[in-house]
Amino acid sequence: MYNIRNVTKDIVWIGANDRRLALFENVFPLPEGVSYNSYLLKDEKTVLLDTADAAVAGQFFENLEAALEGRKLDYVVVNHMEPDHCALLEEVLRRYPGAVLVGNAKTFTLISGFFGLEKAERMTVKEGDSLICGKHTLYFYFAPMVHWPEVMVTYDAADKVLFSADAFGSFKSLDGNLFSDEVNYERDWLDEARRYYTNIVGKYGVMVQTALKKLSALDISCICPLHGLVWRSDFSFLLEKYDKWSRYEEESRGVVIIYASIYGHTENVAEILATRLSEKGVRDVRVYDASKTHVSELIAEIFRVKNVVLASSTYNAELYTPMKNLVADMKALAVQNKNFALIENGSWAPYAKTQMTETLSSLKNCTFEEISLTVRSSLKEGQIAELDALAASLAAKCGK
Ligand code: FEO
Repeated sequence: MYNIRNVTKDIVWIGANDRRLALFENVFPLPEGVSYNSYLLKDEKTVLLDTADAAVAGQFFENLEAALEGRKLDYVVVNHMEPDHCALLEEVLRRYPGAVLVGNAKTFTLISGFFGLEKAERMTVKEGDSLICGKHTLYFYFAPMVHWPEVMVTYDAADKVLFSADAFGSFKSLDGNLFSDEVNYERDWLDEARRYYTNIVGKYGVMVQTALKKLSALDISCICPLHGLVWRSDFSFLLEKYDKWSRYEEESRGVVIIYASIYGHTENVAEILATRLSEKGVRDVRVYDASKTHVSELIAEIFRVKNVVLASSTYNAELYTPMKNLVADMKALAVQNKNFALIENGSWAPYAKTQMTETLSSLKNCTFEEISLTVRSSLKEGQIAELDALAASLAAKCGK
């Protein structure tokens, strides 16, 4: 049975949730699922804006058929060619022959790569081009690398709706509540939205900034992303978050401590440092075990603060694997603008700090605390003063 909901009188959400998928892009855990949003504009012409992932094909096609109410499909706008949104393109054209594919030159290169579909009717748009659908006119603006090079957004001038592709999306399934004003966003959605942004688009902050500037010229009443909630009010909250995330600015003056510990001795140092920070008045201190916390959560937390403590054991004369994976991911995502404090442990040949420094030094606009600790197997009484001094320095940077 179909499950659809109107966004405006003429725009229908026809997406679907996937609560079964364990790993998004086969790498990011989805404890609360994910939605694949797709929209249908019904005017003199009918326009499908993106399809969905193959996993929700059954629901998607029931929804599309119900929303069309027997009408033919005239256009399919492809804002983003990643398979979680375009997987059903070929089947859409099989079921609705004659529908015109709308995309830019890069879109069609990718369509040819994934599907072929050379015989499908194509409308290639350039920046600012429009498509008159009746009383609605759609305008197309390019947003390259938010999150792939072909990405564009579509703006409906009549309803002032922005179809924003991956931008402003989030992990997490929709629970019937399609609109952000129907949920407690900050409590229930923000963490998953941050994890989505930082891990999926986080590397491309400059491009996100360019897109935000471009979109600021539009009069927008509603934002329809390809994942997560639709926004029809309080945009400033979301836009401020995107602005901060894409400029690599912290949201909190707290400290995130991430440790990679084999037998608990490095963990012990992290716990004591957290206590000392708290005693000095730092209110947002969070401690994570890199071995048990998915790297995507750690990345999101690193984006959230300025001050990051990394404490790691040495293992086989290398940085211990969980921390090695984390710093490699930080480099891959071009994390910037952080203040790092480093703590290493090594029973006979401490090496973790050297390797962390090697990788982290390549990140832009980052600083390192002058005090860094080397622990030999376990923290000694004589090192407490040094740890306390590190806590004092970090607390001062948090305004304490
Ligand atoms: Fe949700 Fe970049 O695809």
